[in-house]
Amino acid sequence: MKMVIQFMLVLFCIISSAIATETAEDIQMEQVESIFYDPPLPVVLIGTIIDDQVNFMTAAWITRLEVDPYLFGVSIQKRHMTHEAIMRNNCFSISIPTTELIPLVDAVGMVSGRDYDKSGVFNVFYGENENSPMVNGSIVSFECEVVNSVSLVELDEDHPSAHTLFICEVKSVWVNENGIIDGALDYETLNPILWTFSPLTYWTLSENQWPCFNADNIELIPEKQ
Ligand SMILES: Cc1cc2nc3c(=O)[nH]c(=O)nc-3n(C[C@H](O)[C@H](O)[C@H](O)COP(=O)(O)O)c2cc1C
Repeated sequence: MKMVIQFMLVLFCIISSAIATETAEDIQMEQVESIFYDPPLPVVLIGTIIDDQVNFMTAAWITRLEVDPYLFGVSIQKRHMTHEAIMRNNCFSISIPTTELIPLVDAVGMVSGRDYDKSGVFNVFYGENENSPMVNGSIVSFECEVVNSVSLVELDEDHPSAHTLFICEVKSVWVNENGIIDGALDYETLNPILWTFSPLTYWTLSENQWPCFNADNIELIPEKQ
């Protein structure tokens, strides 16, 4: 029995030292052709009104752009009904859904409001703007007003999926009251969704947490003399 334990210990030491000695320098990077190696992205719902009809589409190509004014950028295909609604009203909402909503989030990301009535899919609420329906029960919702837009590519036969980058200013923010602990959102209770293109999958956040802006980490970099 003692021999077995000693053998296991030696084996453990060999394996762990082999793992520990593989550094970033040992890893070979491979160049690939595909344009579809997206980074993992957060999934949001874009809410609009068109011809008095509430409509939602799923979006992942979204990012925060500025602190003051509070700006987001969202890239939306020109063929989508959402695009037409935003061009007409100059406003939309952004809601961050929880993982419980994944089947509905997936569904409104596959069909257009031109062919399907997506108005009753989510429980909707409004802030000040009647053209920016938001999703009740989402983690956080934003009423947004377009302040700028950039046509990224002309829509033509060669570019059927051409996008417009809408830059919008946040006009009001609405937070799920069940998810606030000590004044901050508790992402363990309110599971946001991440998305990857390759593989085509929805993910949750992992439980691991590293504090951000941790001054100890600066010690990893030599200061200039
Ligand atoms: C996970 C996911 C992410 C998506 N991200 C975007 C996006 O960032 N921009 C976009 O234009 N379409 C995106 N789509 C596609 C639209 O949601 C989809 O084409 C939708 O049917 C458009 O609806 P509408 O015509 O009612 O506006 C995404 C779809 C899914 C499922």
